[in-house]
Amino acid sequence: METSARILRILLQGPGPVSGQALAAELGLSRTAVWKGVAKLIGEGVDIAASGGRGYRLIGRPGKLGPSLVAASLSSQWLGRPVHYFERTDSTNLRAKTLAVAGTPGGALVIADFQTQGRGRLKRVWRSPAGRNLLFSLLLRPRLELRSFFRLTMAAGVSLSRAVEELTGLRPELKWPNDLYLGEHKLAGILTEIAGQAQLLDWAVVGIGLNTNAAPAEEKCTCLASCCGRKIDRLALLDAFLVRFEALLDEGLPAEEIRAGWLELNQTLGRMVSVEDRGGRVSGLAVDVDADGALLVETGAGLRRVVCGDVLPA
Ligand code: BTN
Repeated sequence: METSARILRILLQGPGPVSGQALAAELGLSRTAVWKGVAKLIGEGVDIAASGGRGYRLIGRPGKLGPSLVAASLSSQWLGRPVHYFERTDSTNLRAKTLAVAGTPGGALVIADFQTQGRGRLKRVWRSPAGRNLLFSLLLRPRLELRSFFRLTMAAGVSLSRAVEELTGLRPELKWPNDLYLGEHKLAGILTEIAGQAQLLDWAVVGIGLNTNAAPAEEKCTCLASCCGRKIDRLALLDAFLVRFEALLDEGLPAEEIRAGWLELNQTLGRMVSVEDRGGRVSGLAVDVDADGALLVETGAGLRRVVCGDVLPA
């Protein structure tokens, strides 16, 4: 972790002030290195008061994110590192894919306060106002067969729902294939993009848009803040998610455990659905998902396995 993030992690414990000398001693750095780290934080928009001889103190929590604040807020071991923060970018998925192609190791986090070309599945647009919600992508390189890549989306969905429940008490349900819903309203979407060869995954980018503090007006969406009646700490939520998702990745993405978690939270099975698949429309009763995440639909003409598409009410 960079010096600035290490300093911020101490200041975040509050209330301060913490002297430059104490910071230098705790971090094993020179006073000059501490001073440079503090200057970097101030440059990133972190509001720090330097009070004479008494030291440094945070004045409230920064509104917008920043590289040091994100890094200082994470307690995961490897997932989410390094942090690539953008105040504004085209799409965190696009950025993460560029890193993937350049050979960046798995674990990297791309996170933004605003996206100009946020994308959803099926070439849809993902809109989110600046500085309010969680918009991020993870570059992953798990040992996984290409046909099983959807397990990543399921694992991310389960981890995200549990993280939301831990922080808010709300329990978002999972709508096949990649959405989190609170009741009838969409809370989050997951966009997983992959590349591989010879049946093995080379890299995957798991992109998540979670409406923490603002719901895009034009869609049937909701946000956590409006359900809880309080502002949601985006980074606490991100950290809770990363810790859970990292555990599943460390366990080698156990198919049955992930499927069981997904089944517990799903809102798709047991409903009459109509799915727009590549091969046309499949209508019937959604009865199961298999280990690779395909939806099994009981139709008049027998059981159909659907690997992608949109679930509409039948
Ligand atoms: C969907 O609902 O179809 C998935 C939406 C995924 C949106 C997120 S926001 C962060 C990341 N960057 C993108 O461009 N898309 C994903």
